Amino acid sequence: MGIRFDGVTVAYGGDVVLDALDLTVRPGEVMALLGPSGSGKTTALRAVAGFVRPASGRVFLGDRDVTDLPPHRRGIGMVVQQYALFPHLKVADNVAFGPRAHKVPRAEIRDRVAEALEMTGMAAYAGRHPRELSGGQQQRVAIARALAVRPDVLLLDEPLSALDAQLRSGMLAELARLHRELPDVSILYVTHDQVEALTLADRIAVMDRARLQACGTPQELYRAPANEFTASFVGNANLLPVTVGAGGVSLGDAEIKVDTGGALPGATATLCVRPHLVGLGDGPNRLTGTVGEIQWRGSTHRLLVNVAGHRVMADLRELRDPPAHGDPVTLHFAPEDAVLLTAGVGADG
Ligand SMILES: Nc1ncnc2c1ncn2[C@@H]1O[C@H](COP(=O)(O)OP(=O)(O)OP(=O)(O)O)[C@@H](O)[C@H]1O
Ligand SMILES: [Mg+2]
Repeated sequence: MGIRFDGVTVAYGGDVVLDALDLTVRPGEVMALLGPSGSGKTTALRAVAGFVRPASGRVFLGDRDVTDLPPHRRGIGMVVQQYALFPHLKVADNVAFGPRAHKVPRAEIRDRVAEALEMTGMAAYAGRHPRELSGGQQQRVAIARALAVRPDVLLLDEPLSALDAQLRSGMLAELARLHRELPDVSILYVTHDQVEALTLADRIAVMDRARLQACGTPQELYRAPANEFTASFVGNANLLPVTVGAGGVSLGDAEIKVDTGGALPGATATLCVRPHLVGLGDGPNRLTGTVGEIQWRGSTHRLLVNVAGHRVMADLRELRDPPAHGDPVTLHFAPEDAVLLTAGVGADG
């Protein structure tokens, strides 16, 4: 079942923390809400779950306007940011909590608990208490608990934040599998980790300072970010202040060929070039400068080059003969690998 935010605004004591959010999550889609701390991600989730009341705007689940419904009547499964399990209840009773509260018949509760624990790989732990589980296992129980209510919509708030990198990537794969097994359930997934968003999401909604900054598939946001915030938050980016000319832009003395769209000559804009698309040596668009820093990262070298007073980052496949600090170097990139960002925020939901 889909989720739709229609101009949803949330304010605390006059402070707007979610500003007229318009966003649609399609049925069966995984939408990541990606943004820095305090940008309003949890607030958006709470508005869907019914734990916070919008000052204005409506929330829809499918065709149903649920804005005035209490949380327990919305048919939602939620894993909150601090996935508090009930410490005094065994795993199975934690998972049974939702269906019991909904007065589901006892035999069916047993089936649902078994199924949810099975799906999350926790069947063997049904009789344990949360304190007898690792962080990752507790995480799975929290997800099982959300699944046991047979939700149409699953809200996950930083569900992997407590895990180390290795467990996290394992759980990411598990979540992807879970989604394949529940193809009709829409998932709204809050994270500030771009790898999680890029890995799991069909589309990403980028939030900053209470507002939606951009929404699109990971590829769209990566290849053609709508604004500087999105460019720097989804992947690494060189963001260079340039002046628009005819058929290109200039950075200091360097003339750069790039699609300028409708930008007017003389205007200032920002050129976005991904570091891994910058090469060393001569090429179509060339930048000359001196090496400020060089970092060896195993399979790559990262070069930080001073070009006309700006720092340009290039991620290169490991170099046999890397330049040293202070060496003059030439960098290049293809015109089609650069995107010109002009002022103004583009966002659609
Ligand atoms: N109950 C509340 N009363 C007052 N202000 C609140 C309340 N809940 C959240 N806020 C404020 O609303 C803003 C958005 O909070 P929110 O929890 O949505 O951020 P977030 O994007 O989830 O951040 P994080 O990544 O740190 O979890 C913050 O500035 C926060 O201080
Ligand atoms: Mg949060």
